[in-house]
Amino acid sequence: MCGIFGIITNQDISIGKFALEGIKRLEYRGYDSCGIVALHDSQLFIKKDAGKIDEINERLKLSEFPSESKLALAHTRWATHGPPTKVNSHPHLDCSKKIAVIHNGILENFLELKEMLEREGHKFISDTDTEIIPHLIESYMKKGDDLIQAVVNAVNQCIGAYGVVICHADYPDIIIAVRKESPLVIGIEKGKTTYCASDIPAFLPYTRQCYILEDNEMAILKAGSVNFLNVLDPDMPIKKEIINIEWSIDAAEKGGYEHFMLKEIYEEPVALRRTMKIPRTNLQAFAKILWSAKNIYITAAGTSFYASLAGKHIITKFLGKYIHAIECSEFQTELDDALQEDSVIIAVSQSGETIDLIEAIRWAKEKLKKKITVLCITNVVGSSLTRYSDESIITQAGPEIGVAATKTYCTQVLTLALIALEIARYRKVITKQEIDKYYDALKSTADIIDNYLKNNVSNIKDIVNNLDKSSNFFYLARGISIATAKEGGLKLKEVACRFIEGYSAAHAKHGPISLVREGFPIIFIAPPDETYQRLVGNVMEFKARGGNIISVVVDSDKVITELSDRTIRIPQPANKYYNIISPITFIPALQLLSYYAALKHNLDPDQPLNLAKTVTVH
Ligand code: G6P
Repeated sequence: MCGIFGIITNQDISIGKFALEGIKRLEYRGYDSCGIVALHDSQLFIKKDAGKIDEINERLKLSEFPSESKLALAHTRWATHGPPTKVNSHPHLDCSKKIAVIHNGILENFLELKEMLEREGHKFISDTDTEIIPHLIESYMKKGDDLIQAVVNAVNQCIGAYGVVICHADYPDIIIAVRKESPLVIGIEKGKTTYCASDIPAFLPYTRQCYILEDNEMAILKAGSVNFLNVLDPDMPIKKEIINIEWSIDAAEKGGYEHFMLKEIYEEPVALRRTMKIPRTNLQAFAKILWSAKNIYITAAGTSFYASLAGKHIITKFLGKYIHAIECSEFQTELDDALQEDSVIIAVSQSGETIDLIEAIRWAKEKLKKKITVLCITNVVGSSLTRYSDESIITQAGPEIGVAATKTYCTQVLTLALIALEIARYRKVITKQEIDKYYDALKSTADIIDNYLKNNVSNIKDIVNNLDKSSNFFYLARGISIATAKEGGLKLKEVACRFIEGYSAAHAKHGPISLVREGFPIIFIAPPDETYQRLVGNVMEFKARGGNIISVVVDSDKVITELSDRTIRIPQPANKYYNIISPITFIPALQLLSYYAALKHNLDPDQPLNLAKTVTVH
């Protein structure tokens, strides 16, 4: 939700160019409007409008600002309060037009603050909650505060979530950044340039040295240096460790692919190989806690939730205890009267910032006075989720920029499966030889996907052409593959804007089947596991009603292949050790299908309509 970028330098560089490139790298966070403010000679120069960054740049030449300017803030928006219009785009100003603010998050008490400020005579021009902030700072400054004190007082009056970055025309040597619940990171080129951003890729081409801002912390950025203070206790000294980012810049750029989504699908084998290297001690810590847990819940949103559904099946197989999977937005409602002490919650999130998930975890910890254990699986080191968790595992997918999650799904399922095998080792429910065979199957996921992507993808475009006229689909499966059906379907919804239902093939008889007519497309997820025989029956039921049957099967498949109009063939062995890996190995084909369907319909798969990668609003 919204991308924030700030830069302050003493170097002779084009500040506008840096600001523009910075928000371009954050565009996946929101892309309905954007704006840049640069400061020079005690004057703020602003360019902003509704639309995508490239369109606005064509019109407004976003990189062109006074060449002597050494400070700029830039913002790319995902609208919450007020539609995407020029006036609602950030930055927002105070009455004197000296204070500029960009913001990611939501201020819950903005109406109350707005009324208070209006009574003081402040005039508002936008529908946004953000506009409160510069006016509130102005109000404190009028009462005698200097800029830093005024920002401290202002943010302490704001209820809600914010990553806020501020500059003032009369303070050309500083940028102020403050965070509560919405992510902010600080990048530093010592002695030269300092950056702040809502995500590391924004400044990764310039520096790998960064600090992660925690809740209620303020960073005061100067050219090439930064100081921190806690807004709740400004006198308390803050010691922060600098982090060295190890990803390559290529990892956050398209590297020759037309879209991030395609690049990230093709990165799945590498991401899986890296995930296989997660330290065993880390996996064992999770396994031990789960083994002794009374109740276990797994919770997440979107794609991470479907990865959790697949992971839950695999863990349950070896743990012998039921795991309750609950969407994080419903976690509190479902468990308000039922959450018990000594439960364990597994929280799964690519970004580690999804607000519904963070709230669910915070609520559970507060309710049970911390007598609950939170294990998190996330892709982002230092994310909010890691701070609320007792143990964390970082999936090794590398930065994921495409709004629709792809490679992170595979790494989340693999991580959960690796934990499951550690549980099997503890419980000794299977022999060591069997554990090794399961482990080899997990290890082979990277090679299977590599092989599939290199040799088997040619018919995906044909299938997309065949389905061109269809706007409704079913993705059907049984058992563990229901997660694959749901995730495959979610991708098609997200990037190709098609209506699909990802459903249990058996349960589809109770309603959905009544929609089937001649040519209705049904994609069956059909790995050769214990559900296969019954799925054959389901395929026949839908075929008998004229369904256009497309099945995802393993290479050696015969029966469902015979019944299908088309198949997508995954090169993997058909034996029981490989049954646990189909949620990982079958998904790239469905991701590619969605990707090419989006292209077929002239949609941008990297920036689907109305979506954002990190959802920091309820
Ligand atoms: C948004 C994104 C999805 C993602 C979901 C959960 O809806 O568009 O791709 O799966 O958030 O995000 P998380 O970062 O918690 O995995």
